[in-house]
Amino acid sequence: MSNYHIKHLEEYYQVYRKSIREPENFWEEIAEEHFMWQNKWNNILSWDFSKPEIKWFEGAKLNITENCIDRHLTTRGNKTAILFEPNNPKEPSEHITYNQLSKRVNRFANVLKNQGIKKGDRVCIYLPMIPELAISVLACARIGAIHSVVFAGFSATALSTRINDSDCKMVITSDGSYRGAKTINLKGIVDEALDSCPNVNSVLVAKRIQSEINMVEGRDHWLQPLLDEGSDICEAEIMDAEDPLFILYTSGSTGKPKGMVHTTAGYMVYTAYTFKNVFQYKEDDIYWCTADIGWITGHSYIVYGPLANGATTVMFEGVPSYPDFGRFWEIVEKHKINQFYTAPTAIRALAKQGLEVVEKHDLSSLKVLGSVGEPINEEAWHWYNDNIGKKKSPIVDTWWQTETGGIMITPIPFVTPTKPTYATLPFIGIQPALMDEQGEEIKGNQVSGRLCVKFPWPSMARTIWGNHQRYKDTYFSAFENKYFTGDGALRDEVGYYRITGRVDDVIIVSGHNLGTAPIEDAVNEHPAVAESAIVGFPHDVKGNALYGYVILKDVGETRKHNNLRKEINQIITEHIGPIAKLDKIQFTEGLPKTRSGKIMRRILRKIAHNDTSNLGDTSTLLNPEVVQSIIDGHKNDE
Ligand code: WT7
Repeated sequence: MSNYHIKHLEEYYQVYRKSIREPENFWEEIAEEHFMWQNKWNNILSWDFSKPEIKWFEGAKLNITENCIDRHLTTRGNKTAILFEPNNPKEPSEHITYNQLSKRVNRFANVLKNQGIKKGDRVCIYLPMIPELAISVLACARIGAIHSVVFAGFSATALSTRINDSDCKMVITSDGSYRGAKTINLKGIVDEALDSCPNVNSVLVAKRIQSEINMVEGRDHWLQPLLDEGSDICEAEIMDAEDPLFILYTSGSTGKPKGMVHTTAGYMVYTAYTFKNVFQYKEDDIYWCTADIGWITGHSYIVYGPLANGATTVMFEGVPSYPDFGRFWEIVEKHKINQFYTAPTAIRALAKQGLEVVEKHDLSSLKVLGSVGEPINEEAWHWYNDNIGKKKSPIVDTWWQTETGGIMITPIPFVTPTKPTYATLPFIGIQPALMDEQGEEIKGNQVSGRLCVKFPWPSMARTIWGNHQRYKDTYFSAFENKYFTGDGALRDEVGYYRITGRVDDVIIVSGHNLGTAPIEDAVNEHPAVAESAIVGFPHDVKGNALYGYVILKDVGETRKHNNLRKEINQIITEHIGPIAKLDKIQFTEGLPKTRSGKIMRRILRKIAHNDTSNLGDTSTLLNPEVVQSIIDGHKNDE
């Protein structure tokens, strides 16, 4: 029996049990039957969470692009692989077939080689959502270069930190990008970033907005002429199963961003298998994930997972509000989208616009709706279910992380009965555990705790680039022999999981994972700022927004409050990007600290939530008197 495509609940339980009882046999069958290997593995899995060391399909040889492209050419050569929908609805959309994708990826791969990029080299990709983004990702994979995509909304400082952390030799970018009515000078941001990146010796520039830009002689090259010169045949580099495929940065609660390293074979098998089942993809379906390829969602469920299944995957360049708030629904109608995957923050923003812009469009092609990035609240769930899915398209609330590579807890549509706000059941092969603060696993149902995973799955990140110790400390040290997610969760009476949110200092704003430390570092750069502490507070569209408590060096500065607030947000924009801007800034004379000097964010969080009735034990504070002054300041600001 092929377990590749699960079609009903009994089958889910049966396959799930098998995947837990005999994980190695299970994944071997999936890998054997559904992928193309140059050489099979000697060993399916070896693991040790105490080191931590995880290896899947050791000894196997493959190239992921042969699985995502080449093997489809005989059966699906003329099928659309990537359907590009531009920012401007008046510009025609572009259908890139598997044949065309093959040629474009190979051509691009040859350009990389001609520029001296070799297997194992790191290439930074800083591009908007245009076809070149997916193509350059695949071109890197074709020659075994490790791609590090940086979301094109990040600032020059954030970009240079990421380029230097993984020592990228090349940057691929564009002259600029369109975002709704705005154009953004991406190349200018790259130029600024590269002032502090001495090891980048070439920059490839795709043309998108036809603007005048500065080209540095010897370093910068327009992409198109290089593509035109080369051949469209490039043999795939033969990779080991555990060779790194890519690095993707995610923020931690402290320190600089973490370059999560994903490897080749396990990542491919798991993203492909989850894509097939979580979206119930059928051969002629048109699938659209609205994420940006700069995030893990785009890597796994715009590029690799769909293409490994020979799917048609939509890439949308624009934003949900341009030219108006009906754009998503217009695209669903235009391309007869069958599976639609987006984030709760987008759903809440669109729900606010009323139904007129929805009802104008024929959404009858939709079969499956997805949600990802943060907990979906009940109201948003119902709006999505009633108005977009018309109560006939199941919502898959998919819980996972940059670190997990693929979807971990999710309903399977038409298989798992859904329940609002619940991510429901672990996917095949996933063994979640809820832990108490003493480090014991909490068994049984109707319980809650910290969400861990007890057993390796194929697409888990293998390390943090250049810092394996941090990988161990962050994910494998809180609970012995378990991967700790950083999330809290509850398990209901039937074993369904509901993710309750982060239990660390990471705040999810509009589905983006933001660590408090890097934002505080940015705020502290302002010459008038002595110290700061940032917490999250509930926001009706973004899920969470950021609240900053700021101590000024000279209290007199507060007279210029309004400018200061602007300047602080300006610094955040420069250091991280506009997504990390503070919604509220309260100037204060002190912050509650423990005797060891740690800021007690728990108290700050409660004040930001307007919940000051029970602040818990403040007796261990070094400066308990400061609490009342912060509460007063908060009330005065309201
Ligand atoms: C964190 C991971 C997975 C791709 C996008 C975000 C939160 C993600 C859900 C969900 C509740 C969710 C968690 C997680 N999260 N999906 N369906 N329900 N929370 O990837 O930036 O690595 O963030 O996002 O808190 O730990 P990421």
